[in-house]
Amino acid sequence: MSSKLVIGNWKMNGRHAANLALLGQMLENADINRDGVGLAAPAVYLAQLASVLQGSAMAVAAQDVSRFATDGAFTGENSAQMLADVGCRYVLIGHSERRQYFGEQNDALSAKLQAVAAAGMVPVLCVGETLAEREAGQELAVISQQLEALAAIKGQEYVVAYEPVWAIGTGKVATIEQIDAVHQQIRALVLQCYGASDSIRVLYGGSVKADNADAILSLASVGGALVGGASLEVNGFGKICQAAKKLI
Ligand code: PGA
Repeated sequence: MSSKLVIGNWKMNGRHAANLALLGQMLENADINRDGVGLAAPAVYLAQLASVLQGSAMAVAAQDVSRFATDGAFTGENSAQMLADVGCRYVLIGHSERRQYFGEQNDALSAKLQAVAAAGMVPVLCVGETLAEREAGQELAVISQQLEALAAIKGQEYVVAYEPVWAIGTGKVATIEQIDAVHQQIRALVLQCYGASDSIRVLYGGSVKADNADAILSLASVGGALVGGASLEVNGFGKICQAAKKLI
């Protein structure tokens, strides 16, 4: 048994001084400053987070990683070993914004999953359908294809995050029934295809806020939350982290 996991995804937000102020507030909040809470910051600030959060229970997460595992001539890239070196415990892989704006697909994502696992961190594979795909009844086919990337790290530790694209940053939240149905299907698909243990953890993401966190995190099929906008402000994020103090 462990508590549900909350990862705040700051996306492309933050400045050195503002991060310091926000992290200071988070460290003082007992719902946030505990095991089972992590923050994903832009790569350039990861070392800052690791240094400020050192000695706390909170984890540092990266938002992306290079698909190239070994050092070399890959200008602009951050390798998994570098992320581990600066203190990351989790790495988001295949967030829908990476898929949408950078064309990331399973071949690159498989390489990233492998690199992260090999560097001793836990990859968080993000999956989810667009509104058009859901309206066409294709959500399961889409998610199942996205989950195929997990074949690259069969038997190793990972987390899956279900984030319906139409619910990210839009204020639209999937209904509790929709979330539960997809989470159960993801668990079944992963168990069937990859034979993972029953400790498979599926986070929900997409407009998780203080006022809907309790209902979402009460679902047995939901292993935690991936929180975007609401992780940039301490009170709302604290309430979400409080709602996540449930055992799975
Ligand atoms: P949101 O983002 O909470 O702002 O909808 C979630 C995410 O993209 O991880």
